[in-house]
Amino acid sequence: MTTALDRIVNDHQHMARLLGFLDYQMSGYREGSERRPSLKIIIDALDYLHHYPDVFHHPLESKLITRLKPRLTSREQRVKLELIEAQHRQMVPMTAKLLSGFNAVASGQVMPINLLLANYTLYSDLQREHMALEDQFLVPALETLLTPEELLQVDDDLKLMPDPLFGAHLWTTYKRLYQHVLEWECSVEPVV
Ligand SMILES: [Fe+2]
Ligand SMILES: [Fe+2]
Repeated sequence: MTTALDRIVNDHQHMARLLGFLDYQMSGYREGSERRPSLKIIIDALDYLHHYPDVFHHPLESKLITRLKPRLTSREQRVKLELIEAQHRQMVPMTAKLLSGFNAVASGQVMPINLLLANYTLYSDLQREHMALEDQFLVPALETLLTPEELLQVDDDLKLMPDPLFGAHLWTTYKRLYQHVLEWECSVEPVV
């Protein structure tokens, strides 16, 4: 697998980890929960989702999709690709809306928390559905139908924008978040 496809697959695994952590944090807001969610950490996680996947990961895929599109031969494949692109357009404003909603809570504004939670559920369900479709359809199609040279053409983009949370160099802004994700993962019983 090429570097570009590796990055896409790795990003998906990292986003799945972060969504698992966010599910855990959000559940602290639900009625009857004995745990207090950490608002600052939720905002850090949403900030990351807004500034890395929305700004780099999905646009990288879209760039590759533009090359892939003319190579698809079946209508079913084209429909799947159009759905992926539609989901990209749909997710960016959803992340922005969630981030501004939780920032408003942090600044003391009265916000309907149930609405924020419902929006989060819509967002996380869509992200998971989207990543599953990309893993099952987009990544294999890119690997089969694009040439290694075409995939290499996005390598400069990869170097310019490393993952600031799960990449080799952890950005100071996300240090606290990274620590919390690791602690949460250590506390979760492994599924046997
Ligand atoms: Fe995507
Ligand atoms: Fe993706």
